[in-house]
Amino acid sequence: MAILVTGGLGYIGSHTIIELIKKGEKVIAVDNLSNSKITMIDQIEKITGVRITFYQVDCLDKEKLEEVFKENKDIRDVIHFAGSKAVGESCVKPLLYYENNLMSTINLLNLMIKYGVKNFIFSSSATVYGTPKRVPLYETDPIGGTTNPYGTTKLIIEGILQDVYKVHPEMNIAILRYFNPIGAHESGLIGEAPNGIPNNLMPYITQVAVGQRDHLNVFGDDYPTVDGTGVRDYIHVVDLATGHVAALEKLATNPGLVIYNLGTGKGTSVLELVKAFEEANNVKVPYEIAPRRPGDIAECYANCDKAEKELHWKATHTIVDACRDSWKWQQYFTKESKK
Ligand code: NAD
Ligand code: UD1
Repeated sequence: MAILVTGGLGYIGSHTIIELIKKGEKVIAVDNLSNSKITMIDQIEKITGVRITFYQVDCLDKEKLEEVFKENKDIRDVIHFAGSKAVGESCVKPLLYYENNLMSTINLLNLMIKYGVKNFIFSSSATVYGTPKRVPLYETDPIGGTTNPYGTTKLIIEGILQDVYKVHPEMNIAILRYFNPIGAHESGLIGEAPNGIPNNLMPYITQVAVGQRDHLNVFGDDYPTVDGTGVRDYIHVVDLATGHVAALEKLATNPGLVIYNLGTGKGTSVLELVKAFEEANNVKVPYEIAPRRPGDIAECYANCDKAEKELHWKATHTIVDACRDSWKWQQYFTKESKK
């Protein structure tokens, strides 16, 4: 049997594929390369020794996507990572985000129903909780009040999945709400390579450390947190990847629609992360305190008891591991880019 991984050459998809291969699973990856490179296939092969089956297909292209299902009658599970994810860009190009994120999911679900594929994992986000009324966040906490079109696409898709499940109770659907993925594969051969100025904290830190940027702007030091800077739940991307393997195992038991937070359960402030990075890698990350970033919240971290109990999964990597691996990857990426 095979697992179809959409967006498989992206940041989280590639790390997940490696963990699936390690488990002996057969993977079929689909990606339109809008935010990834074809060379990822070589990198995955370098790490695992396996060359994955790959289709350069846009999930918006129904006919081409259907070909993948026609040619691979052994698809048992679909993990859907494909989508656009830049919060800022989603405010400027909302229709692009609604079209890409919603339509790719709808196309996939239609094909799964047509071809009798029952198991679906969706990449949701902690962003669906909007501004948390309390932390840690539980899966049962209210969702809604998203502050940007990207977040709203995740919220709408969660609603679509609930509706589809009502009329297709034979399906098994895992909605995974990721907190803040950071880090890279320990080989340093794959990681996150954002285009342009990074929006997220860790890629910004590594670009400052490597000398590509002058200093980090710390967005606000007057939040009601441990040191005044924003607190998030940073989860190592390899832990996130193993979370998908655990969710697939759960789906094999026919649980219906299930929702899990994937985080560490621990909050880390911006300045704590900077300090951990400096200490782990013995490099300096100059920073300046800047105004708060509009739309930011003070604290966001998960309660992960449900995943631990039901998926028998728990994040095992530390912030220091993530800092070390992100740095290894940034150095490799910078060296490769200069070739
Ligand atoms: P990514 O951009 O690295 O990976 C997404 C991949 O999907 C890219 O390779 C891109 O080329 C591909 N893609 C985009 N639209 C496509 C389409 N229409 N057809 C085929 N391929 C398409 O992003 P990521 O960080 O790996 O995120 C994966 C998923 O997880 C996304 O849905 C994202 O919204 C979600 N998520 C990410 C984070 C995060 O911080 N990285 C947090 C929460 C949720
Ligand atoms: C952002 C997105 C969220 C997405 C998540 C993971 C927003 C409003 N939210 O969340 O939808 O799911 O990324 O991809 O963009 N920070 C700095 N300086 C920087 C960058 C960030 O101080 O240059 C701070 C932020 O203020 C925040 C923390 O670092 O306190 C983490 O920021 P970021 O990595 O962007 O993640 P989120 O804000 O949690």
